Order: sequence, then C-alpha cells, then structure tokens
Amino acid sequence: MSNERFLTGITPSGTPHLGNYVGSIRPSVAASLRLGVQSFYFLADYHALIKVDDPARIQRSSLEIAASWLACGLDPDEVVFYRQSDVPEIPELTWFLSCVLGKGVLNRAHAYKAAVDKNNAAGLDADADVNVGLFMYPVLMGADILMFNAHQVPVGRDQVQHIEMARDMANSFNHRYGVHFVAPEAAIEDNVATLPGLDGRKMSKSYDNTIPLFAPRDQLQKLISGIVTDSKAPGEPKSVDGSALFQIYQAFASADETKNLRQAYANGIGWGEAKQTVFERIDQELAPMRAAYEALMNNPGKIEAIFQVGAVKARAIATPFMAELRHAVGLRDLRVQATQTARTVKLALPVFKQYRETDGHFYFKLQSAEGKLLLQSNGFASPKVAGQSIATLQAEGASALATLAGQVQLAKGVSSDELESAVQALREARAESNGK
Ligand code: TRP
Repeated sequence: MSNERFLTGITPSGTPHLGNYVGSIRPSVAASLRLGVQSFYFLADYHALIKVDDPARIQRSSLEIAASWLACGLDPDEVVFYRQSDVPEIPELTWFLSCVLGKGVLNRAHAYKAAVDKNNAAGLDADADVNVGLFMYPVLMGADILMFNAHQVPVGRDQVQHIEMARDMANSFNHRYGVHFVAPEAAIEDNVATLPGLDGRKMSKSYDNTIPLFAPRDQLQKLISGIVTDSKAPGEPKSVDGSALFQIYQAFASADETKNLRQAYANGIGWGEAKQTVFERIDQELAPMRAAYEALMNNPGKIEAIFQVGAVKARAIATPFMAELRHAVGLRDLRVQATQTARTVKLALPVFKQYRETDGHFYFKLQSAEGKLLLQSNGFASPKVAGQSIATLQAEGASALATLAGQVQLAKGVSSDELESAVQALREARAESNGK
C-alpha cells in the first residue's frame, strides 16, 4: 500500500446533473477503486455558504450529492467520505494559512478577479457584492487539501490556480514553522468529457440547461427529446460535428455503439429516433443506480450515519495534526517548557564567521544567534589554521580556551559558560540534522 493520497471536494449548491456525472462523479468513483491510494471525498459545504444563502437548498443538495456518489458506487468503507463542516479543524487551519499567505495572491485569484472585473466594467465599486468568503475561497480550499496532506487533487483546468495557491501556502508555512505539509499537485483531468447541455452550450447550472442525473425515467426521456438539433428532416444526412445529442451519446456509449450512431446520422436517421436511441442508452447505465439513489433519498438517516462515521475517520487524522500545528506556531500549553524541536522549527543558531582583514591575516569570530559577539580570534597566517582552531572549539567547547590561549579570546563581558552553551547548541543542531 503506497501512501499516495487523493482528495476530491464537491460543493453542495445544486442537484447533480449528467455533466457532473460524466465529468466528476464517474471518474472519481472509478479512481476510488484503484489499489494503493488513499482517497478522501468530501462535501464542501462551507464553500457552499459563499454563494448559497438558502439553508434548505444546502441541506437538500448535500443529501442529493451524497446519495448520488453512494449510488454511483463510492464505497464509504474504502475511502474517507465526509462533510467539510464536520471537521472544525478545517476552518481553524484556514486561519493559520491566512496568516502565511500574501493578500496580493488572493487579489489575483480567478473567481475574485472575475467579480472585480465585472464590477469595474459596470462602473460599480470594485468590491460591490463580493463577500469575504469569495475572497478567501482559495484559503479554505487550501486547508481542505493540506489538512489531509493530499498529494494529488483531481481538478479541471479552471481549478489549477487554486492548487498552486495551496502549494504556496504549504511552502510558506513549512518555511516558517518547519516541514508539516506536503505540497499538493493538480491531477488535471483533460480526457474527461465536458458535456453539452440542452441548448448545446456546456451543461451548467448557470445556463439552466442541465439534465438532472437521476431524473425519473419518463422525465429523462422528455428532457432528452428537448435537446437542440437542426431542422433536417428524416432521410436527410446529418452531421455529428456540433451535435450536442451525439456528444452526450458518446459519453455513455462504447466505441462500437458510437460508430453505429455516426453511421445512422450519415444515413439520415430522424431526430426522434436518434433521441430515443440516446435516451435508452443513457437510461440503461443509470437505471440501476437510480433505484439505489431513490432508496437513499428516502433514507436520509442512512446517509447521516455514513457521514458520522466519515467524520470520525477524518478527525482521527485532523485532530492530532491540528494539535501538532498549534504547537508548531506557538499556541501551546503554558506548563510545557518552551522547547523547539529542530524537526519542526529551524532554530536560529550561533555562527562562526571567517574573514580576512586588510593586514592579510585570517580571522574568525563566534556570534550568538542574536548576533552578539561571543568570541574573537587573532590573525592566522592561513585560513586552514583558522579552520583548525574553529574545529578545536567545536570539539572541546569552553575548555579549548586554554589550548587556544593567545589565539582567541572571549568578547568583553562574555562568560565561558555562554561560550559553552553556544557550542553546545551548534553540536545539537548538527546531531539533529545528521539524525534525519
Ligand atoms: N472548488 C471545488 C468546486 O468548485 C470544491 C472544492 C472545495 C474542492 N475544496 C476542494 C475540490 C478541495 C478539490 C479539493 O467544486
């Protein structure tokens, strides 16, 4: 079992449609069956609050999306399947990440920039109707990903920028507080189809051209019969290029089936008959899942119970990790001695500085972590001899002062104890880094 971790989130803001199924649910479920990866699937319901202010819709959508994933074969025993809002560590981590991310990065986030550009074009205040949630969206998303140290995040091209920002946040945090996060990568899904909708544009809630994934059979048939076509009569050859109907069929049919429909188009199949073929093919794939979906929709308690279990699994990771992060940034139990482990924190250390003076001789000095002068050498004829004296000091600490008498002296007001502890700190840091 490798430690590769995949993570996918979906925002519960509407009813899943065929485009979501083909573009996201179907490939995600297939990916969850892969061996050797640990998968995290979650409802991004905190994200939903950014754009949905209808509580009933969020609840309804959460139920529909969860039921859809489960009906499509996601196995909650094999993956971690949870609701974002069941993991309060995620908003806490969002705050930590907010404090290491430059505001300018968020100014450049696509979704926020698009809103600002639109306002500017309309002559409105740049931030008119923009909530802070929208502005912070990439940080919350970063917390989703970094909370579970996901390596791979399958996303469409439009989300790649968000993954890059998550990498940024991981690196900034690691730089300040020691290495805690894996920098995630976008697993770009270029070969999953985007489905056209009823009007031929991309199937999307915002165009109001969707076919709900689990519409009842008769409704599915009606919707498919409403897909736009040209006005060619039966018997006239038809082109598959630009045919939304054909593209939708292709997302469900085998290569052979697709070939046959292409031929039927060329032979002048009537639109009514073509639509019936497409409907039957899609229904064939969806019907068994639709039955499972309806059973789940009628049993919300079952889904709630699945999420409760998912929350326990997710928090078994999130709670101790958050405790580690709180410690790393200094939110600590006051009774615990303020220690810093080199694994998580790069200590500022004393340094030996070597240099050459205008007299042509080679010198060194030892400075404390705070830059205070601890020890000063006299001039050496060569850098090599200077280096040997440093080595003696490193090996023997303050007792080297006797051996090196006449070559080095403590700075004014510095005790040999201070020298001893500076040398000791250097030794410990070296042991720590060798032990890694
Ligand atoms: N932004 C995603 C969407 O628009 C949802 C999402 C939230 C997400 N957090 C995530 C996706 C983390 C992948 C990883 O639907």
